Amino acid sequence: MSRRAMKTILAIETSCDETAVAVLRDRQLVASEVASQIEEHQKFGGVVPELASRNHLVHLPRLLKQSLAKAQIAIRDIDAFAATSGPGLASSLLVGNSAAKGLAIGANKAFLAINHLEGHLLSPFFRSAKIEPNISLIVSGGHTLLVEVRAVGDYKILGRTLDDAAGEAFDKIAKLLGLGYPGGPEIERRAASGDPARFDLPRGMLDSGDLNFSFSGLKTAVRYLLPKILSGADNTIPGWTEGSRNIIKDDRVIPRLARDDELIADLCASFQQAVIDVLREKSLEALRQTGSSRLTLSGGVSCNDALRKSLRGACDRNGIELIVAEPWLCTDNAAMIAFAAMQRLNSGDVSDLAEEIDPNLALV
Ligand code: KG4
Ligand code: ZN
Repeated sequence: MSRRAMKTILAIETSCDETAVAVLRDRQLVASEVASQIEEHQKFGGVVPELASRNHLVHLPRLLKQSLAKAQIAIRDIDAFAATSGPGLASSLLVGNSAAKGLAIGANKAFLAINHLEGHLLSPFFRSAKIEPNISLIVSGGHTLLVEVRAVGDYKILGRTLDDAAGEAFDKIAKLLGLGYPGGPEIERRAASGDPARFDLPRGMLDSGDLNFSFSGLKTAVRYLLPKILSGADNTIPGWTEGSRNIIKDDRVIPRLARDDELIADLCASFQQAVIDVLREKSLEALRQTGSSRLTLSGGVSCNDALRKSLRGACDRNGIELIVAEPWLCTDNAAMIAFAAMQRLNSGDVSDLAEEIDPNLALV
């Protein structure tokens, strides 16, 4: 293919606490820069929206320059500018969106508003020539979705979380255990040496008969379990008394708990296993119901190696092809936004410059 026939897209992702820019030339990723703000939000135990948008403003110009330099391309040679337009934090989305629109207007090129969830959903196909129909499990900090993917842009939601997202559950449990933010990687690290069978935690909605999820009961179960463990009581949840709640409010409890490495490891492993069991069984049920034989996995929680292994084993046993996004593509990045934009551009789809950001943008 000649250089002229190839299309080049510059994409910006600023939906949450990662500022990211990528340049995709046809199927070749020629630049991908990510500035994580994790350290800045860590001291608050979660993402502070005002801080996130201010940081995007600080990081974005530098990342744009770096990306153009790495890609060895001038702005005038870019065919389209893309940005995440939702879902996400309004003030953060505005930064990336305004920048991409400004670049598109200045260079007189196309603008593409991309749904962050579509970015995750297509990311397992980043190295593939073609996007095949599949059942997509998206597990991130903000979403837990099972989607039937018939083609690019042809999606049907099969199930979603009714409360916390899977990543959110990891983050909340980590906070409860005094393990910091973001919780997922730290819980996975601790769980590696723990016993997943030590604590019998609930598998929310496993027998609900639908493909929806609920993780808030699991969070509550861990919360109620802590005072019982700390007071040396039997570790079953029934029998917990209302008075035990005060123990967990005691500031001295968490540091005491955090020092007990074995206990934390077992708690993390038991919690992680409960999340994985539900994600695996619901995914298998979605595959059964639709007759699909291909599962894809994406989103920040799909970095989790125990989840990958569990799904891999289940898929192998059931003759299902499993395609998992590469680890660097699982957490937020602009390469997946550029990839989704390329699929859109190739099918002649561009966005209106008047299109607004939407913090609650739905996939369909
Ligand atoms: O996709 P992502 O970067 O941002 C959203 O779109 O939300 O996902 C971030 C989420 C966080 O909740 C984080 O705790 C979780 O992904 N996460 C993990 C792991 N790495 C990141 N959860 C479990 N295990 C991991 N290794
Ligand atoms: Zn994401």
